[in-house]
Amino acid sequence: MAAGAALPALLLLVAAALCAGPADAALGVNWGTVSAHRAPPSVVVDLMRANRIGKVKLFDADAGVLRALAGSGIQVMVGLTNGELSTIAGSAAAADAWVQQNVSRYVGRGGVDIRYIAVGNEPFLTSYQDQFQSYIIPAMTNLQQSLVKANLASYVKLVVPCNADAYQSASVPSQGVFRTELTQIMTQLAAFLSSSGAPFVVNIYPFLSLYQNADFPQDYAFFDGSTHPLVDGPNTYYNAFDGNFDTLVSALSKIGYGQLPIAIGEIGWPTEGAPSANLTAARAFNQGLINRITSNKGTPLRPGVPPADVYLFSLLDEEQKSILPGNFERHWGIFSFDGQAKYPLNLGLGNPVLKSAKEVPYLPSRWCIANPARNLDSISDHMKLACSMADCTNLEYGGSCYGIGPKGNVSYAFNSYYQQQKQDPNSCDFGGLGMITYLDPSMGECHFLVGIDDSKSSAIASCSGPCCAVFWGITALGFWVFMYLRMMVSA
Ligand SMILES: *[C@@H]1O[C@H](CO)[C@@H](O)[C@H](O)[C@H]1NC(C)=O
Ligand SMILES: *[C@@H]1O[C@H](CO)[C@@H](O)[C@H](O)[C@H]1NC(C)=O
Ligand SMILES: *[C@@H]1O[C@H](CO)[C@@H](O)[C@H](O)[C@H]1NC(C)=O
Repeated sequence: MAAGAALPALLLLVAAALCAGPADAALGVNWGTVSAHRAPPSVVVDLMRANRIGKVKLFDADAGVLRALAGSGIQVMVGLTNGELSTIAGSAAAADAWVQQNVSRYVGRGGVDIRYIAVGNEPFLTSYQDQFQSYIIPAMTNLQQSLVKANLASYVKLVVPCNADAYQSASVPSQGVFRTELTQIMTQLAAFLSSSGAPFVVNIYPFLSLYQNADFPQDYAFFDGSTHPLVDGPNTYYNAFDGNFDTLVSALSKIGYGQLPIAIGEIGWPTEGAPSANLTAARAFNQGLINRITSNKGTPLRPGVPPADVYLFSLLDEEQKSILPGNFERHWGIFSFDGQAKYPLNLGLGNPVLKSAKEVPYLPSRWCIANPARNLDSISDHMKLACSMADCTNLEYGGSCYGIGPKGNVSYAFNSYYQQQKQDPNSCDFGGLGMITYLDPSMGECHFLVGIDDSKSSAIASCSGPCCAVFWGITALGFWVFMYLRMMVSA
């Protein structure tokens, strides 16, 4: 290139760099799909677009979800599940196939704007012991090669969403250090991320700190200042988020990567399922977080530098998640399972409040309740069974349906199961104790749900003819055999 042309080009580049300044943190959401009531992916994509959400993090690479994201302009992080790690770590060909099937196929004009691949989900979690740890770097190496071959390496970056338990035990942020057994792998990971220009991704949960620790000062979990600030040398911390973030900054500094950008892979607050999980608290936390991030204030160790990206957890409630950690696990959504806004929230993206989903294909307005004409003395096994299959967490202490009485409890459980079974009439029998009604049995805050018709996306539900009758026959028979066995066991 001639010098005469190079100079203006150089000036242009310098000007662009100066004008751009430090990039603002961008807000995204996690979209999990552990639910029996899945709205069609296109409805969910429309919901995100209506709320101007420009980034989404997925936990796998579901083809239906990715197809719906095509042409949406939404930037996507796809996920390689922990279960896939060993295969990808052990085989370059498997990594090639993964990238081909789950990334290359979708990118390009009018396709899906895939920017990141999450390699595993919290693979270093203490409770996994070290079952996934050794796969991470080999899997990243293989996937990176595959991206290079597919000509995507400069566009699609690999990241590893980590749980904060990789470093969280420090008493003050400046003492932050990775768990000893992770030092080597974290150093390799940081080197990898640094060379590819990808952020360190961490999940931060002040709610869990509060939930798990009775001494945790409540106001320190939120963003309105704290009567229990944490003093750390010259720095004072007024909220758990900043403290946690800087603990990670310290841990990264100690392995020589104190400047590595950090993105928040998951952060949020559940709306029920524990005493501190409620609408008011969820709104206060999420709004406080968003205001904090959009102010570009940064933290004491990174003043003026907000996180690279922040993905709220979560977009939607997922009523089939494990409740081992607590009933709140199924209630993290800023929207209910069917895309209805749970509370007013300004995402800072242009809309003053959340907009709810439109054109949700609900099943007919029908509910299953306990037959009022029947004696309900022998009902508890039916209720237990319904709740073992469908979601009844709302009935427990801290839930929106707590305190609706014994009969209300049974009706709620019956309906939950009936909707999960897509209103199959057999699923409201319960030995003659159930009854279908066309009057909404919701009481106050306690909403009796109507399921979603996902027949368009499910081969089984859309079956018809004799084969279908046989399928439902077997399903119903299995249900009653299971129920009978349960009664025998508990008798
Ligand atoms: C692509 O991702 C899907 C869904 O996460 C997974 O089931 C599938 O095995 C992946 N494809 C390959 C070739 O590994
Ligand atoms: C909601 O949770 C907050 C935060 O833990 C708590 O202070 C408040 O008392 C709760 N509100 C209700 C109505 O339970
Ligand atoms: C309703 O069910 C919940 C959950 O099983 C239980 O905690 C509560 O005590 C029940 N209430 C009544 C009145 O039976």
